Amino acid sequence: MNELHQKTRHITDLILKAACEARKETDADGGYASSGPVKWPVSCTVGPGLEGAIACESKVGYVNGIKGSLIYRGYDVFDLCAYSTFEEVSYLLLFGKLPTASEFDIFKREISRYMAVPATLRLLMSFPIESFNAMAALRMGAHFLRREFSNVDRDDYKSDVENVIGSDEDSIAMETTPRGEKRAIYEFHEKRDKKEAAEDDGRYNPATGYRSCYSLIGGVASMAAAIKRIRERHLPIEPRPDMSHAANLLYMMTGKVPTPEEERIVDVSLILHADHGMNASTFASMVVASTMSDMYFSVGAGIAALNGPLHGGANEQVVNMLNEIGSVDNVKKWFDSAVAEKKKIMGFGHRVYKAYDPRARVLMPLAEYFAKTNTRLSGMFDIAKSLEKEVVNKLGKEKKIFPNVDFYSGILYQSLGIPKEMFTPIFAVSRVSGWTARVMEYLENNRIFRPRAIYSGTFDEKYIPLRERK
Ligand code: COA
Repeated sequence: MNELHQKTRHITDLILKAACEARKETDADGGYASSGPVKWPVSCTVGPGLEGAIACESKVGYVNGIKGSLIYRGYDVFDLCAYSTFEEVSYLLLFGKLPTASEFDIFKREISRYMAVPATLRLLMSFPIESFNAMAALRMGAHFLRREFSNVDRDDYKSDVENVIGSDEDSIAMETTPRGEKRAIYEFHEKRDKKEAAEDDGRYNPATGYRSCYSLIGGVASMAAAIKRIRERHLPIEPRPDMSHAANLLYMMTGKVPTPEEERIVDVSLILHADHGMNASTFASMVVASTMSDMYFSVGAGIAALNGPLHGGANEQVVNMLNEIGSVDNVKKWFDSAVAEKKKIMGFGHRVYKAYDPRARVLMPLAEYFAKTNTRLSGMFDIAKSLEKEVVNKLGKEKKIFPNVDFYSGILYQSLGIPKEMFTPIFAVSRVSGWTARVMEYLENNRIFRPRAIYSGTFDEKYIPLRERK
């Protein structure tokens, strides 16, 4: 058991309890049978929004929507939350097996190395990021990472980076060091030593392959944290190689070393959001990759798709909705009018799950545990529980609508003081490992995605010149 898990056994206990309850309800259906290798072409019934369509074969992960279970590379996500870490899960998703100790050390070092993204942040900071939507900034940053870590635009890139870091270093305002922290603020002028620079001829890579995955897993976390700081009119903070991914994310956002509890909640949340079948953002990434574009463009497309309120953007909308409801007494009235107006209730429903989302099963007790320490959040948690009851009683029975991953994550993040515009970027920090794993897997036997539309328009229209049109 690693040190973090030892210090946060009570959180492990909450996860195991949630897992035990979930399994009691769902295991009666028996185990799984692997489908084995697919023989193409396959027949399937396709509904609107590609419902039911089979786009590819994958060994990365499996969502059982009837049972309400989630598997990464054969491992139940409940066990991964209880015993693993986000870094280990990222390795598992990318390479298909749990790492040995030495493989894990190398992997962690790579990710942590790529968390240093000075050129990307310098470019980001040349835009008015404080007035950008955080996901828009993150998406733009994915393309700047492409310039920092690949040789795709090499001629332009080389001269730019030298100019940016070299000539301007003295003009970068330095912020006072956060209390208790030394060397915390990003040093844009820090020169890489010769040995690192030599090793790093490998740093200027094609924008595909495992290095691009490492740079995106590391870089998206640093960018998300930096975007939060810039939006709050602070300077970005350098990552600390001695910290875990989750701790670094929190540290780079706040300037404070997180407590083991804070680190663990973020770690569990990152594990839960890392992969989820052929969801919209994963599919968007894969479509882009299938054209033989590159990993940075693919992840940029994933970020763009994730932003929508029907997908990753729902977590922010949940908090808005709970604030709008305002009190437990108002829940029933609010819910009845939402049903009457056929409103989508944020944080509920799923294309695949027709049962309780296993990710919400873990996040709910964690949100409850952390909300207890804060009166405002415990009020919000009570509203959420009461709304869940109303929705499950009515829509659960009628339409199999249950809470999804986004319903409780916002309350949890708020307990850490994370502002709501950062909820979806944090989702992206995690999902980047699923996007990259699935893209790498698909590229082994790539075929460009190219579905068809059924044309329901007219034929034989006669062209009328503009001035004759009524
Ligand atoms: N609140 C109320 N009704 C909902 C609902 C919700 N959150 N989600 C689905 N429904 C209802 C629909 O109105 C529809 O009812 P109808 O058959 O009477 O018309 C039925 O359930 C099927 O919904 P549909 O929108 O076709 O499902 P989908 O598979 O296309 O959409 C989601 C899935 C996730 C986009 C949808 O459930 C949703 O919009 N949820 C809210 C946003 C959210 O939380 N997203 C995060 C997903 S992790």
